[in-house]
Amino acid sequence: MSFLTRRIAIDREIGHVEGHGLKPTLGWPHLVALGVGAIVGTGIYTLTGEAAGLAGPGAMLSFLIAGAVCAAAALCYAEMATLMPRAGSAYTYSYAVMGETVAWIVGWSLILEYTVVCAAVSVGWAGYASGLILSWWPDAPQQLLKGPEAGGIVNLPAVVIALLVAGLLALGTRESARVNFVLVIVKLVALAGFIALALPAFNAAHFTPFMPQGFWAHEVDGVKFGVMGAASIIFFAFYGFDAISTASEETKNPARDLTIGIVGSMLLCTLIYMAVAASAIGAMPPAQFASSPEPLAHIIRELGHPKAAWLIGLAAIIAMPTVIMVFMYGQTRVFFAMARDGLLPRGLAKVHSKLGTPVAVTLFTGVIAAVLGGALPLGTIVSVANAGTLAAFIATAIAMMILRVQQPARPRRFKTPLWWLVGPFAVLGCAYLFAGLNTFTMIVFVIWNLIGLAAYLLYFRSTSNLSKT
Ligand code: ALA
Repeated sequence: MSFLTRRIAIDREIGHVEGHGLKPTLGWPHLVALGVGAIVGTGIYTLTGEAAGLAGPGAMLSFLIAGAVCAAAALCYAEMATLMPRAGSAYTYSYAVMGETVAWIVGWSLILEYTVVCAAVSVGWAGYASGLILSWWPDAPQQLLKGPEAGGIVNLPAVVIALLVAGLLALGTRESARVNFVLVIVKLVALAGFIALALPAFNAAHFTPFMPQGFWAHEVDGVKFGVMGAASIIFFAFYGFDAISTASEETKNPARDLTIGIVGSMLLCTLIYMAVAASAIGAMPPAQFASSPEPLAHIIRELGHPKAAWLIGLAAIIAMPTVIMVFMYGQTRVFFAMARDGLLPRGLAKVHSKLGTPVAVTLFTGVIAAVLGGALPLGTIVSVANAGTLAAFIATAIAMMILRVQQPARPRRFKTPLWWLVGPFAVLGCAYLFAGLNTFTMIVFVIWNLIGLAAYLLYFRSTSNLSKT
């Protein structure tokens, strides 16, 4: 069969007996915790201000639009994840529905997404951590607290947190998920505290004019303003639920657990996000917190609660690693799925006999994220991460629709409601957000995929399991 069209079977058995299968240890509470752990993170702590700067109070609308596009994509993910409860998410769905070459491109995009998100959040975490370090130790060597772009040598806190999270994951899914659960609680309590302190200062006048930069994205000096410009950036703050579907092979009851995990965490996080954004804008005009690197703490401090502001900052430091954890987890599982299919070196797919996790690939991912996090600045990599994610979302929604047309009678444990509407909405919404990213991001994305495609055509095409059938 041609490499362009060869596919894996949708209901293919997973090879537990070969020592290449993952242990089914996760239930839906773990998955909701994974989802909330990934969705509510750097975006709400750092990008809220940026969105408000790009769109004014209209950022509320940006949150709503990005959230709606993600919700549509989440429904498509839930359908595909319950049909194919295997590691690899969009990569695996594309492999079964659209063939190996498309799957390779999607898997390669996912690797970009997950690695860059891990690196970006490590850098975001390092910003808060450095602030704390400097408040205790003003003479700390600054060269080791920031990357070359910011005038330093290496962003050491970013390197440390990326390696620490990788080590935790290598110790085992169960242990990591428990730690994640506690950290998610810390994060939610901090956000609830923020809302409780900001709401009494709510002033409806802060919402006018509602869209000072207009609705459509327009570029000024390389930055896209307007409600849609902000939506393309704030999209970063909404995704994470897709990482849950990469854990699908390790869920005890995929039909129930994945549906609750993906759709539930998406809705929950959208609600929390809207509440935080409304409280923030209600408490302070956007222009006054837009450029703050810690907008939530800044608002609370300005409202006269310095201790609470300090605690919110501390919670950010404690909670952000959950985001790195979930994306690193997703990353290792995509590697794992591709290696198992023969599309990456097979040694990467080896599961440790006692821990039940792919230790080698977990540590490898940690090292790459540490190198990127230690060297790269935060700003532009957020939109690079968005590009990889949007490509994966588009592929998943298309796979869902193709399968609905080709195999309408196939039993589905979760069905996307109004799939003929939700599917196209997800595809067009993601494509539109993609178009709102800057030129630099597009170039990085194209170059990354050209490299990937060359590696595939020249080598991995021939190592694929399906090349031997
Ligand atoms: N949604 C994740 C965050 O906000 C990536 O940090």
